[in-house]
Amino acid sequence: MRKPVIAGNWKMHVRAQEATELVRQLRAACETDAVEVVVCPPSTSLATAHEALRGSSIGLGAQNVHWEPQGAFTGEISAPMLVEAGCRYVIIGHSERRQHFGETDATVRKRLGAALTHHLTPIVCIGETLAEREANQTWAVLERQLGAVFTDCAGWDCGGLILAYEPVWAIGTGRNATPEQAQDAHQFIRQWVAKRCGAAAAHVIRLLYGGSVSAGNAAGLLQQPDVDGALVGGASLKADAFTAIVRAAADTTAVKT
Ligand code: 13P
Repeated sequence: MRKPVIAGNWKMHVRAQEATELVRQLRAACETDAVEVVVCPPSTSLATAHEALRGSSIGLGAQNVHWEPQGAFTGEISAPMLVEAGCRYVIIGHSERRQHFGETDATVRKRLGAALTHHLTPIVCIGETLAEREANQTWAVLERQLGAVFTDCAGWDCGGLILAYEPVWAIGTGRNATPEQAQDAHQFIRQWVAKRCGAAAAHVIRLLYGGSVSAGNAAGLLQQPDVDGALVGGASLKADAFTAIVRAAADTTAVKT
């Protein structure tokens, strides 16, 4: 049984002062042994969130990481810096970074290497655009992205990665993938991982769905056999909505065992 992960990607929202309050509300409502709960604030709110999370089971993650430990890379943050700020997770290769900031499969792989070296659990995002889906290229795009992620992975604990399938057309649009679409993609991804890394890694790797996950649609998505959690954007900014998604994940553990 894979422990579900519900991660909130706060994106460029929630300033430090607001982070304290949001974390306080989440601590009151979402602490549960049944689900791995993670929040990923923007960089300037990491320290405050870390302080507010002291003693909590809720984990802290960042939204990006550079591949070098230090250097002349204006605007970037390194893995040792994130560890120092209290992070245990990091989102890598989010489609907004691929779309707006020139992130490529190659840079995603380099960032992933840094995360693994410094023992940050990576949440690596993959997923196709609407044009790619409509051109029946979904599987080809996922294969390409997965191939880049798992380049030179011989020394890794592949099952320790977290992959997030985030179809770009579902992000911030209110148009989530149907549970069947999510399951199809997740099954494809798990089978791909089985071929590349072996059945044992494929059995334990957690595959999150992301894209317009809400309190209303979470249960249907999370009940799918290969959907092991969610990477939540907009709904993670509201404690009640995020809590409802965490509860939906906790409820599925009973069904899936
Ligand atoms: P929304 O939940 O706002 O669609 O965002 C999803 C996402 O990009 C999470 O990383």
